[in-house]
Amino acid sequence: MRQTSLLATLGLCLAGAALAHTGVKNAAVMARMNGMSAIAAEMKTLGEMAKGKTPFDAAAARAAAASIARHAAETPALFEAEEDDPKSEAKPEIWQDFADFTAKSNELETIAEGLAESIQVEADLRPAVAALGGTCQSCHKLYRE
Ligand code: HEC
Repeated sequence: MRQTSLLATLGLCLAGAALAHTGVKNAAVMARMNGMSAIAAEMKTLGEMAKGKTPFDAAAARAAAASIARHAAETPALFEAEEDDPKSEAKPEIWQDFADFTAKSNELETIAEGLAESIQVEADLRPAVAALGGTCQSCHKLYRE
């Protein structure tokens, strides 16, 4: 995986991580945003290790993947009720095909669970970030503004 595409993937996934929360009034929307932000924070940990910004730590990388898996497992329940807020970036298509939304969340969970067992050496990180990032993008592309 080339450096540029890896960084582009990460950038797309993490866009808006810090800003979007301000002024959200609907608690259910806030909760699902918090879940996404937690996933993004773990992705940042993995991404910084993959780029060599922080030292490689296999246990910390596996723990980040395990945390992503746990949050992904909670994602469908957090989104199940059709809640809205002026600050939300969720598209109505989520509730037109909630089975597909759930499948995309399950895909992230499965990949993250696997990585929580499999990451051993530094070279495992880039493909890990790419695989995880692909699932963020495939869901955001359809279901996030
Ligand atoms: C199953 C679909 C799905 C998957 C998979 C997914 N997201 Fe999201 N994400 C969403 C939706 C929908 C929103 C918009 C929620 C809202 O604004 O109400 C969102 C919002 C976000 C936000 C903005 C949160 C905020 O505070 O407003 C970030 C950051 C984010 N996702 C990161 C990620 C990362 C990183 C991954 C992959 C590791 C990922 N997401 C995987 C559906 C998904």
